Amino acid sequence: MKKYYIETWGCQMNEHDSEKLAGMLSNMGYTSCDNKKEADLIIFNTCCVRENAELKVYGNLGQLKPLKKNNPDLIIAVCGCMMQQSHIVEYIKKKYPFVDLIFGTHNLHNFPVLLANCRQSDNMIVEIWDREGEIVEGIPVIRKYGIKSFVNIMYGCNNFCTYCIVPYTRGRERSRKPDDILNEIKNLVANGTVEVTLLGQNVNSYGKTLDNPIDFADLLYQINEIEGLRRIRFMTSHPKDVSPKLIRALKECDKLCEHIHLPVQAGSNRVLEKMNRKYTREKYLKLIEEIRKAVPDISITTDIIVGFPGETEEDFKETLDLVEKVGYDNAFTFIYSIRKGTPAANMKEQVPDEIKHERFNRLLEVLHKSVKEKNHALKNKVLEVLIEGTSKNDDNILMGRTRTNKVVNFKGPKELIGKFAHVKITEPKNFSLYGELI
Ligand code: SAH
Ligand code: SF4
Ligand code: F3S
Repeated sequence: MKKYYIETWGCQMNEHDSEKLAGMLSNMGYTSCDNKKEADLIIFNTCCVRENAELKVYGNLGQLKPLKKNNPDLIIAVCGCMMQQSHIVEYIKKKYPFVDLIFGTHNLHNFPVLLANCRQSDNMIVEIWDREGEIVEGIPVIRKYGIKSFVNIMYGCNNFCTYCIVPYTRGRERSRKPDDILNEIKNLVANGTVEVTLLGQNVNSYGKTLDNPIDFADLLYQINEIEGLRRIRFMTSHPKDVSPKLIRALKECDKLCEHIHLPVQAGSNRVLEKMNRKYTREKYLKLIEEIRKAVPDISITTDIIVGFPGETEEDFKETLDLVEKVGYDNAFTFIYSIRKGTPAANMKEQVPDEIKHERFNRLLEVLHKSVKEKNHALKNKVLEVLIEGTSKNDDNILMGRTRTNKVVNFKGPKELIGKFAHVKITEPKNFSLYGELI
């Protein structure tokens, strides 16, 4: 039996695409392995949202050359968002000629045919579609976890935030039909899934491209009815599209977890406008207030970029101020990275690296204070966790996730993995929670 090894960079969208690759490979008789040296096929599923994501891919690609020498039958395939950029494909062709197959995000479903062609050819096969095609349903999927599953509800993005490459790598926004989504989830639940994460670059605009449009809140109400499903999460919501109806759904759908990831990106109106985010700090803060009014204990996380072109010290202070005002449970923080082909790449006044780093560290300080406060506020609280496995650092400690998406470590029998339990938080730390099974 032939073995495959997949390495994935980037967001959940890419993670889920890799699960589809695994599903297709399993149908072709391949089995997975976790050592590149044993593999007959190595796939790199790439991300180009920031420069460091790209650099990691290049570094890892370079290391494959000796493997190819030892095993000339080894097939090396590279796919994902980086491949939707022609300058990157040209670079790979020149610099890594030992790669056998290159394909993109829009023709992932054709992978079996591409692989078959590749096995019969001595030349590198490159097939990239410039544009998205129709949504392809029914791709087999092998999921990483049995109990929690990713489900795409839409693909692509129409927002064109000026720093972001995603609309160029993932194409225009398009939604899956509600029945396809509901049937997929029902099937998953029948096979043991208790938690789904609905995926889309901007889930709030779900439904706009359908013949019989329904909106995201309607979809949530329908998913909430699925028997046997216990938890619903979603990623990502754009603040400009959070409707009062969605806030009502957050309150009314009992399976919807008390967590929302609401990327703010920056706290200054001047920067938000240059980013093309289409909301102001005032509107964002109001939104947070309304969400908290509807669901008081909701945890709120965000994405923040520092050093966007033209960001002044004053602008940056507004970001710090907003972070303090909101009091986030957690945040992904990024240093602005120039992405070729995006409007911001051509903006004058790029912020020097030292200033970006200095601001980044100051942001972390303010953020960590808020994360710590949120964690410490949970002391002695009893929370429901879904036990996902054992702790990364200690195989004797169980790891579960709360509805608010916080990781809790605690002692307990391994038979509990995959089940729900209640845990009392006894030891909140700055970045993690420890508790006792009750
Ligand atoms: N569709 C999602 C995720 C987009 S990518 C959303 O809109 O939230 C994830 C995050 O990467 C973004 O939220 C942004 O904070 C960050 N990001 C995107 N482009 C970037 C760039 N050029 N430099 C630094 N961070 C970037
Ligand atoms: Fe990128 Fe903005 Fe689309 Fe998110 S909403 S994927 S940040 S363009
Ligand atoms: Fe990266 Fe593509 Fe996701 S660029 S962040 S893998 S959509």
